[in-house]
Amino acid sequence: MTDAETSNAGLEEARRLPLLESQLAALFDVSSVLSRSLELRDTLREVLRTLHEHGRLCLGMVSLLDDESGDLLVSALHDQDAAPFEKERYRPGEGVIGRILESDQRWILPRVGDEPRFLDRLNLFNPDLPFIGVPIRIGGEGAIGVFALQPPVADGLLEQRARFAEMVANLIGQAVRLSRSVEAEQRALREERDTLRRHLRGTHGFENIIGHTERMRMVFDQARQVAKWNTTVLLRGESGTGKELIANAIHYNSPRSRGPLVKLNCAALPDNLLESELFGHERGAFTGAVTQRKGRFEQADGGSLFLDEIGEITPAFQAKLLRVLQEGEFERVGGGRTIKVDVRVIAATNRNLEQEVKAGQFREDLYYRLNVMPIQMPALRERIEDVPDLARFLVEKIGKSQGRELSITDGALRVLMRYDWPGNVRELENCMERAAVMSEAGIIDRDVINLTGLDVGALPEPIMPSSTASTAVDLDDPDVDERERVIAALEQAGWVQAKAARLLKMTPRQIAYRIQTLNIRVKQF
Ligand SMILES: Nc1ncnc2c1ncn2[C@@H]1O[C@H](COP(=O)(O)OP(=O)(O)OP(=O)(O)O)[C@@H](O)[C@H]1O
Ligand SMILES: [Mg+2]
Repeated sequence: MTDAETSNAGLEEARRLPLLESQLAALFDVSSVLSRSLELRDTLREVLRTLHEHGRLCLGMVSLLDDESGDLLVSALHDQDAAPFEKERYRPGEGVIGRILESDQRWILPRVGDEPRFLDRLNLFNPDLPFIGVPIRIGGEGAIGVFALQPPVADGLLEQRARFAEMVANLIGQAVRLSRSVEAEQRALREERDTLRRHLRGTHGFENIIGHTERMRMVFDQARQVAKWNTTVLLRGESGTGKELIANAIHYNSPRSRGPLVKLNCAALPDNLLESELFGHERGAFTGAVTQRKGRFEQADGGSLFLDEIGEITPAFQAKLLRVLQEGEFERVGGGRTIKVDVRVIAATNRNLEQEVKAGQFREDLYYRLNVMPIQMPALRERIEDVPDLARFLVEKIGKSQGRELSITDGALRVLMRYDWPGNVRELENCMERAAVMSEAGIIDRDVINLTGLDVGALPEPIMPSSTASTAVDLDDPDVDERERVIAALEQAGWVQAKAARLLKMTPRQIAYRIQTLNIRVKQF
């Protein structure tokens, strides 16, 4: 090595060190930019700006392959002003950039203006300066984009600059991969949300609430009307009459249907828990409140809040609830900040609130706040004509869930219409489910209708058929419901069990067993 050569090499080294240093610093900045945000376009622009400022390059451009068109789209340029160019696209193979993508190879040009393939459609590049273009890759796949840059001077360090560009391109590749997988995940979630929403609207529409009687038509009318407004609704009626079903239908048929429907059963929690459940709490508000938590009112913002069993809350809590209903604002437990929400409240109760008000157990002001639009759900016994439709509907629903065809005979429907359903539609639903389980062939006939079943404890006395009706029953008719036959026989035998057993050609033990399992109340004389 001559002296001249040695000193040349030294000079080279001295020139190289500061570049290396600035490249390292730039790489550090780039990696921290990339780890900050997931909004790809902004991130890339920020990367290029960082490189422009600290990395000694006078122009940078990132183009990414567009999956749909197969073209390369300019995804980011180093400065904001270049935003209009971001609509530009290259075909694979077209120009220098297109060529790099197609060949999946880097390309270094000492003077870009000398390259015949150089198009400079965007009029961005300086034809007198070098050009470095490297493919952007994700994992082991081919190139998904091109990172192109122009250094500010034509020096002898092109190779080193190209290696630096490759490092940056690798980082960009990682960021693109991350952002695309997040995007894909979000798209999948959005699609799932929309499907669920459609499904919810389909299953919670008025079409799925059965009832043709005058009483039910009135309920539908009121619910449809009130759905359009933000009016507070109070659903009243016995257990199992469909209050929650109507609450769903009101929400999903309201302008808020795209917002959340949040539910809370007020009877399920003691006051202190109810308060933090409804209004949320700040961190450290009480033992166990390790993080801040939004309450149901906040969760329901923009949607509806269903407060079930509203009649069960204590007077102290009634006052708290009154304020939210009046002002639409509250504080989280342990917090001083007042939170405002936009929530439509649908409340439900099976209590007689007027009586509770009179007895001083329910605040009158809250009562009036809630009772703006009361909807009274009729008991099933008050609309017994709906039983056949309801039973058929429920049987079909159960059939779907069991994956088989189920049907119910007219004879069975007649039996159902003779009962008074203290547990309302829920009891009918349970009864149908039991019957479905018992009918192997899928046809529910009167023999599998067991009105006592699991509800036996909750049931009041079963209704007895009148004696004229029961004496008309032909005891030898195999189509007659078992329970009816036994009752008829008992009636005919003056409620002497041994006699009735003989009529039915049963032993006394057999009839005693049936009286018990069919929940027949034996008349005492
Ligand atoms: N009109 C109806 N048509 C179809 N299904 C109904 C109808 N009414 C009630 N149901 C069904 O009966 C069951 C009980 O209804 P829901 O839970 O709405 O009653 P509820 O009034 O809220 O009772 P509770 O006061 O006990 O909470 C549910 O499975 C519901 O789907
Ligand atoms: Mg309910």
